[in-house]
Amino acid sequence: MSKKIPHRIYLTEDQMPTQWYNLRADMKELPDPMLNPATGKPATVKDLYPVFCTELAKQEMDNTTRYIDIPEEVLEFYKMFRPSPLIRAYNLEKALGTPAKIYYKFEGNNTSGSHKLNSAVAQAYYAKEQGLTSLTTETGAGQWGTALAEACCYYNIPLTVYMVKCSYEQKPFRRAIIETFDGKIIPSPSNTTNAGRAILAENPDTSGSLGCAISEAVEKAVTTEGCKYVLGSVLNQVLLHQSIIGLEAKIAMDSIGEYPDVVIGCAGGGSNLGGLIAPYMQDKLTGKANPRLVAVEPASCPSLTRGRYAYDFCDTGKITPLAKMYTLGCDFMPSANHAGGLRYHGMSPILSKLYHDGYMEAVAVEQTKVFEAATFFAKHETILPAPESAHAIRGAIDEALKCKETGEAKTILFGLTGTGYFDMMAYDAFLNGNMNDYIPTDEELEKAFEKLPKIPGIQE
Ligand SMILES: Cc1ncc(COP(=O)(O)O)c(C=O)c1O
Repeated sequence: MSKKIPHRIYLTEDQMPTQWYNLRADMKELPDPMLNPATGKPATVKDLYPVFCTELAKQEMDNTTRYIDIPEEVLEFYKMFRPSPLIRAYNLEKALGTPAKIYYKFEGNNTSGSHKLNSAVAQAYYAKEQGLTSLTTETGAGQWGTALAEACCYYNIPLTVYMVKCSYEQKPFRRAIIETFDGKIIPSPSNTTNAGRAILAENPDTSGSLGCAISEAVEKAVTTEGCKYVLGSVLNQVLLHQSIIGLEAKIAMDSIGEYPDVVIGCAGGGSNLGGLIAPYMQDKLTGKANPRLVAVEPASCPSLTRGRYAYDFCDTGKITPLAKMYTLGCDFMPSANHAGGLRYHGMSPILSKLYHDGYMEAVAVEQTKVFEAATFFAKHETILPAPESAHAIRGAIDEALKCKETGEAKTILFGLTGTGYFDMMAYDAFLNGNMNDYIPTDEELEKAFEKLPKIPGIQE
């Protein structure tokens, strides 16, 4: 008789991967290179040094090293909150009445409440190794800022966090945690940087966006001695660090003889999704298997499903290098959706390329549908998901309901990136019927596309 698969599958520390996987090494075609906006020429690793730590800049540009050793000190930190469990959603399956088998990789079991700590630890470690004296970053929903504050506190590096103003106001307890870990926090846009002042002059009542906060954090880094900027998503290096999610998930799935037919993740800048699908994308790229890989994004900020595949700035202040990615235009201001971590105009260049080349799918979902899924999931699986993570839950439930119609017993794996304890204003709005589903019109999107940068010979 076959053994029943347990509810929770925990790897031992010894089973934890000791290397990150660099997806670019297996891509048939690489993402187009980042461009220096001043010259229109491909950015070199040296162009990145004023902004990023040296080792992280090298990882950003490394398209060939398939596996990169996780430093011993990072592994030691990882062991404080990893391996994270792979969970079989028996109760959710039962409640849905689906023949599908649903698994999720739960990354919310640490104080930051999300997967963001996986990259924060690595980035703070490399900064310490380089002898940097401070770091800056931005945070949208607050998870990244919290994660980085935890990591910087551990490595004793002062941190300034530019927090998107609407989250700063909506989530006072996120601020308190960041301050508990000695992070300095500034609502963005602020009058502490040129970028912030310019944005405020144009739109004094703006509630901010990730793009604005990035501009401020980058400016602070390049104008402060011994200070560098770190980012919690979008970049190649962040996807690399997040591959720990997928590598662990694959070891756990293999250990119970399971292989997913479909892997689903929420997509903001693409880091958790890129990390979760990494080893499965490797199988797909190398012809070993052909699972479906699905991004779920908010209908209010639909970069993959309605964006353009074009060169664009990564920030609103237009000071970062240009990346070729699916983008809504860096001037696009998403509506005040409650999934703050998914309110970003662009998408990881790696995922953008893979999506463009047909290796991935994407769907956009409305936020009330997302919160329906979140509350349903909470009731049956007893974990209160972050609104961002609930996008993946929505995607997984919809797949499972399709299986119910067709009678197929598909194996579904999704990423549960975090918990929603600091998102109770959002839950409250949903439960009281005060949540709307703003979807941008084609005209609104067109307006932002018109402002995409012109690069002679490349993007006219
Ligand atoms: C819980 C959670 N999930 C997902 C995301 C989306 O980020 P990414 O697309 O980089 O994984 C965020 C971003 O803040 C988040 O906080």
